[in-house]
Amino acid sequence: MKILITGGAGFIGSNFIYFERANHPQDKLVCVDKLTYAGDLETLEPVLSDKNFRFVRADIADRAAMEALFAEERPDAVVNFAAESHVDRSIETPAVFMETNAMGTQVLLDACRKFGVGRFHQVSTDEVYGDLPLDRPDLFFTEKTPLHASSPYSASKAAADLLCGAYARTYGLPVTISRCSNNYGPYQFPEKLIPLMIANALADKPLPVYGEGLNVRDWLYVEDHCAAIDLILRKGEAGTVYNVGGHNERRNIDIVRIILAELGKPESLIRHVADRKGHDRRYAIDPAFIHEKLGWLPATKFEDGIRKTIRWYLDNRTWWENILSGEYKGCYDRLFGQR
Ligand code: NAD
Ligand code: TYD
Repeated sequence: MKILITGGAGFIGSNFIYFERANHPQDKLVCVDKLTYAGDLETLEPVLSDKNFRFVRADIADRAAMEALFAEERPDAVVNFAAESHVDRSIETPAVFMETNAMGTQVLLDACRKFGVGRFHQVSTDEVYGDLPLDRPDLFFTEKTPLHASSPYSASKAAADLLCGAYARTYGLPVTISRCSNNYGPYQFPEKLIPLMIANALADKPLPVYGEGLNVRDWLYVEDHCAAIDLILRKGEAGTVYNVGGHNERRNIDIVRIILAELGKPESLIRHVADRKGHDRRYAIDPAFIHEKLGWLPATKFEDGIRKTIRWYLDNRTWWENILSGEYKGCYDRLFGQR
């Protein structure tokens, strides 16, 4: 099988490429990524010279570039990770979120139609469901929960999901969608809660907690998300949405305290700062459907996953220190400038 993976130089996409390499080494992988601030080619360096791997720098919203790539590669399946993914940035600059997340997805859907691609998998998020109240721990997002996005980020992802559904129904395009909860693990850009707090704690810098830190996120180790996507791609039913999550709800303040304790740093580093605008209170996934239909269950307990993640950031300081210093921007020229 030949899989076109968009956004593979980012956090989850790169983990997915390594997951596929390890579990389906015979498959051909083509990664297309625009290399925005969030994409780092250094992350993919170990696979760049692999004969079953090709990297192409392009924008998924560039119709001509996508048509040319699909014509040349004729992929059997597409997995769409490419997105602007940070809620805070979407509050500052919403337009690019619609361009990449919604319009970019539509360009890919059109290319899949034109070239008869056998499966389009959309990597979506639980944030399309909006949020849940803090005082109703009995409520969870199911696949039937109505879309009710709060931020420009989640609205653009919801728009993409609606387009996927429309292309499935109108044109019979074989589309699947996964809606996963918050991921953590290696290669996450250090603007997101867990890697930001690890980086700041290691530098003895203040840890900015929005408001009281009582908002709840449902955390899943990234490899478990990759395993779910792989299963949906190979065994999932076209036209179906699958929620992905591991029933691991934590308050932000508790996550920050765990990180400080693991690193032996004092809680005096915590700084409560102004809350995020429109801050979603609680996300919580009911993963019963994917378990029942495909037998998926998460393999990594949070206690183990967070230790592995902290260990990874300690062992790979140059990866994230280069990002923070802006050094990674030169990486594409260094690796690809001569080719
Ligand atoms: P990320 O920001 O780490 O990576 C995004 C990647 O997409 C980067 O490599 C970037 O260069 C690339 N990209 C951005 N715009 C592009 C464009 N126009 N054309 C081509 N490439 C482009 O994001 P992530 O955390 O890895 O998230 C990947 C996907 O998973 C997103 O669709 C996101 O909505 C979804 N998701 C993320 C989480 C999470 O917790 N991080 C949870 C559920 C779903
Ligand atoms: P984030 O990692 O941005 O993911 P998302 O907003 O998509 O869930 O944030 C996770 C939670 O952590 C969210 O409730 C906002 C909070 N947060 C902070 O308190 N401080 C920070 O510096 C960041 C980046 C997030």
